[in-house]
Amino acid sequence: MMNNVVLTILLFTLLSAACGEFNGYRSLPEHPAVDTLVVDDEWKQFCFTTGHAPTRFEFRTTQFTFLEITDLYCKGDQFGIFDHESLLGSTGDADSNCTENGENPNDAVAGGWSTAKFFLPTGNHNVTVLVLKNPYKEGSAAIRLTSVTPILK
Ligand SMILES: *[C@@H]1O[C@H](CO)[C@@H](O)[C@H](O)[C@H]1NC(C)=O
Ligand SMILES: *[C@@H]1O[C@H](CO)[C@@H](O)[C@H](O)[C@H]1NC(C)=O
Repeated sequence: MMNNVVLTILLFTLLSAACGEFNGYRSLPEHPAVDTLVVDDEWKQFCFTTGHAPTRFEFRTTQFTFLEITDLYCKGDQFGIFDHESLLGSTGDADSNCTENGENPNDAVAGGWSTAKFFLPTGNHNVTVLVLKNPYKEGSAAIRLTSVTPILK
């Protein structure tokens, strides 16, 4: 019982730290409803919450890229990713588990958080991240674009 209270407070603190004002997703200024991504930039962290409009990223690529996305903090969230109206796919299954705090996106990718990696052709992209599973009602994830150099023989 006591442990649950401590865990809840801890979870609350972690999510707050990750996403700004916990009780004010409506006024989450650090992440607009539509954002952009730059190829070979750092991971971009974003927040989501049940009932909130899906997060969207608009950008143009002039080279082949991978789009990578990973859940952060408590394990168990899962996402469906669309480009324009086409489903690229979903992130992997991950059991809900809040015993580990996946703060670093690279560690989360390696450590069994729900992640996915998609190949993107060049052109205009309009990526929507739909939350499919969200055991904690809100959470945080990270997304990035990395350039790909195809091996031509
Ligand atoms: C949660 O993760 C911890 C650490 O990896 C593991 O020891 C534990 O068995 C997991 N719990 C569940 C319910 O999967
Ligand atoms: C991107 O997709 C959203 C949702 O489908 C749509 O409302 C918006 O107009 C699109 N933007 C562009 C630039 O295509």
